Amino acid sequence: MKVIFLVCFSLIGLGWSAKHGRADEAISAFFEQTVWAKVGERTCLKCHKVGGEAEESKFVLADPKRSLDQPETLRNNQAVFAKVARLEAGVHQSRMLLKVVGKLNHGGKEVFKVDSPEYRILADWVKRQNTRPPGPRPNVVNKNARPFFDGIVMLDDRRLLRRVTLSLAGRLPSEAEIAAVAKGGFKAIPKLLDQVLGEDAFYDRLREGFNDIFLTEGYDDVPENALSYEHFSTTRGWTQNHDLSHIKDEKERRQAGYKLSNDYRKAMLGEPMKLIEHIVKNDRPFTEIVTADYIMVTPYTSRGYGIFTELKSRFKNPEDPFEYIPVKLKALVGRNRVEDQDSATGFYAHAGLLSNFQYLKRFPTTETNRNRQRSRVYFQHFLGIDVLELAARVSDAAAVTAKYENPTMQASECKVDPKCWTKNGVS
Ligand code: HEC
Repeated sequence: MKVIFLVCFSLIGLGWSAKHGRADEAISAFFEQTVWAKVGERTCLKCHKVGGEAEESKFVLADPKRSLDQPETLRNNQAVFAKVARLEAGVHQSRMLLKVVGKLNHGGKEVFKVDSPEYRILADWVKRQNTRPPGPRPNVVNKNARPFFDGIVMLDDRRLLRRVTLSLAGRLPSEAEIAAVAKGGFKAIPKLLDQVLGEDAFYDRLREGFNDIFLTEGYDDVPENALSYEHFSTTRGWTQNHDLSHIKDEKERRQAGYKLSNDYRKAMLGEPMKLIEHIVKNDRPFTEIVTADYIMVTPYTSRGYGIFTELKSRFKNPEDPFEYIPVKLKALVGRNRVEDQDSATGFYAHAGLLSNFQYLKRFPTTETNRNRQRSRVYFQHFLGIDVLELAARVSDAAAVTAKYENPTMQASECKVDPKCWTKNGVS
């Protein structure tokens, strides 16, 4: 089993730079990710912008999300933030910090309490602005500098083992594992890791982790409705007609009916993440999450698809609602001929999660491509692209007018007649 260690170091760049509060200064990570993201954008921007309550003050920001040049706008905001942070109201009394707690007659009244997390971020920012080393810092590479990761202390083997079993299998290391690591040190870990990755608890964790991304274990509507009415109307509700007459006691029979349908629904919701489990457990290429030409079904869910009878002998225990096996579906047959699925091969066009009924149900679309949600999540889940972040959506008419020469605005008597523009000297 291939194991990938992902080690994440969060490095906080303090980002000193040569000039103070100038708009050509590089954007510091602290400003962008903390001061701006947590305070400026969320709170101050509301009033401190053109058109806002505080537009007359010395502290006027702009919204990078509405700007055509986001880094530039952010850099300007940083410069403005840096400048007000250096203003004092008396000896060592920050004007900005007094304003935000409502003192000095702040037009925005009390925005934060002293010692709220946001106040502390601003206090930190003010401190940084006022304790900068004077003069430009030489931008030279120090050949004698210590290696970048110097000074990082790795966990000792025993604690690493504890991390491994806790994160991957939700348990503490066993005596035997501790002994193995005490004896063999780090070298003993890969073998123990392979064992941990074979435990049921690891697969629970795996499914849980991927469900946090794909969110297929919950959607509107009853789970079996992931199977379309057109193709599965006679089978998807099988639990309602299932013969339980062998249970004589009426109450018991009713309870058994509830359990049957609950188990069916749970098994139905579990199919997509069981596909991932199957791929990992069998050490198959992970790309199968989008290429697998099968789905995972159980004795219960296969009844929903109407294929239980033909599959029955393949299950170890045909009574087990949660025994999942891979199955390639035939092309879907509709209630009417026109709803029959076209298929060159005679099979359903499987493509892992992309064609998975539950996944499609979870992220629906319509013939008019409603909300474009499905294509958005496809991009996000499988290509790592957040389409909503691809381009700034400019909805600020003033910004558009400032950036582009709009002929109508330059010769308003012309409306939309190009000849008229030419006459009025608009190129
Ligand atoms: C509800 C609107 C509102 C909000 C939110 C707001 N302010 Fe203000 N702020 C004002 C107004 C109005 C003024 C102008 C009057 C004054 O000087 O107090 C002002 C002035 C200021 C000034 C003085 C600027 C100068 O001209 O010297 C500072 C500094 C300031 N605000 C900081 C902040 C910070 C930092 C935030 C975000 C944490 C913030 N404000 C949030 C309305 C607001």
